[in-house]
Amino acid sequence: MWRLAGKRIGSGLLGKFRRIRAKHFENVTCRKINTSSAKKTVMPAWVIDRYGDNSTLRFTKGSMFPIIHYPNEVMIKVHASSLNPIDISMRNGYGAAALQVRRDPLHIKAAGSEFPLILGRDVSGVVMETGLDVSYFKPGDEVWAALPPWKQGTLAEFVVASANEIAHKPKTLSHSQAAALPYVALTTWSALVNNGGLRDNNCKGKRVLILGGSGGIGTFAIQLLKSWGAHVTTTCSENAFSLLKDLGADHTVNYKTPTLEKELKDLKMFDFILDNVGGRTEDWALNLLKPWSGATYVTLVTPFMLNTDRLGLANGIVKSGITLGNKILKHLRQGVHYRWAIFTPSGPTLDEVTELVDKRKIRPVVEQVFSFSQVPKAFLKLEGGHARGKTVIDGSKGCL
Ligand SMILES: NC(=O)c1ccc[n+]([C@@H]2O[C@H](COP(=O)([O-])OP(=O)(O)OC[C@H]3O[C@@H](n4cnc5c(N)ncnc54)[C@H](OP(=O)(O)O)[C@@H]3O)[C@@H](O)[C@H]2O)c1
Repeated sequence: MWRLAGKRIGSGLLGKFRRIRAKHFENVTCRKINTSSAKKTVMPAWVIDRYGDNSTLRFTKGSMFPIIHYPNEVMIKVHASSLNPIDISMRNGYGAAALQVRRDPLHIKAAGSEFPLILGRDVSGVVMETGLDVSYFKPGDEVWAALPPWKQGTLAEFVVASANEIAHKPKTLSHSQAAALPYVALTTWSALVNNGGLRDNNCKGKRVLILGGSGGIGTFAIQLLKSWGAHVTTTCSENAFSLLKDLGADHTVNYKTPTLEKELKDLKMFDFILDNVGGRTEDWALNLLKPWSGATYVTLVTPFMLNTDRLGLANGIVKSGITLGNKILKHLRQGVHYRWAIFTPSGPTLDEVTELVDKRKIRPVVEQVFSFSQVPKAFLKLEGGHARGKTVIDGSKGCL
């Protein structure tokens, strides 16, 4: 065991490297880095080596073992993960330009340096090792998280996350159940709370419309809003009515009916709309909001990544900024607020979700569970559409 600036710095091969560093930096106050043990160098993972269709997914037992680089990081053994539409988009190369800038801001690395890329944002697992500054978590803790898309993903045996991104997993859920929630929970929170200003103390009696209630986001959003006392109307296919009513939805409307717009217009006006559908929905749905009352429309379907892919980062940001600015102003003139929301990783938010789950106010809606060896099948399932909740990858079911 070696010490640098009074801290444990590891042993083995990595330790040898660190001993040389330590000697070099004797008497210098050093930034504390890399606390991972050097016992393992490779691990099983699903990776892609290029962007494309499902055939790009490749299983390997030789994926590079992740390393704790910063003192606030934590190494997690993945017990379960789940898929989200972003995994399919990332496999296809969506957002590659913007994400690569986040991974390599100074453009030091060669093109394609993100490969082999591990997909998967959600994780439920166990802390194996912690960075030197982590005191809130310790090895053996059961945790859950959703990792930002510029980081290596969770379809692997181990993953490294920042301690700020993780939280203790709900005690009432198995890993397989828990993995269904973090990404959709954090995205919903970003839309409703961070962008929409809703909270447990201001939702009572508010009329909320969720466009697209039957997928991962919708099934979480319905439960969260109901636990906060809102009145929830949601659009979905007719065969999802009973599931969504069971989750607490007060009113369900079949979005396939030709009279959808009229049916929604005939209802009392709404205080808040969460749009999980996008496209032409915006052309008519904002008229369903009560004007001049602080009513808000938040959409999760934005052109931000498409713009940066098409126009490059700088021009893409400018174009998105202009589009958003114009929409905000246009709708403000009509008396309603208009917002875009994106997934925002946050351990403290997951702490709040943990509490709601353990109080049985929210439950994961798991549509199908795949083993780790069936990851490509799970991608095909999600890509086929018509999700009813989440598609989970259970690492304890073979391969890990
Ligand atoms: N901005 C962000 O950071 C962010 C983060 C997460 C998700 N998102 C976006 O949010 C959307 C929802 O995500 P998700 O995870 O919930 O997706 P999901 O699990 O794939 O669910 C989509 C659901 O929408 C239903 N649906 C399809 N067309 C519909 C329509 N016109 N009206 C009502 N329901 C419809 C589908 O069922 P049927 O087709 O059977 O009706 C399915 O249940 C996606 O577009 C996703 O890309 C954005």
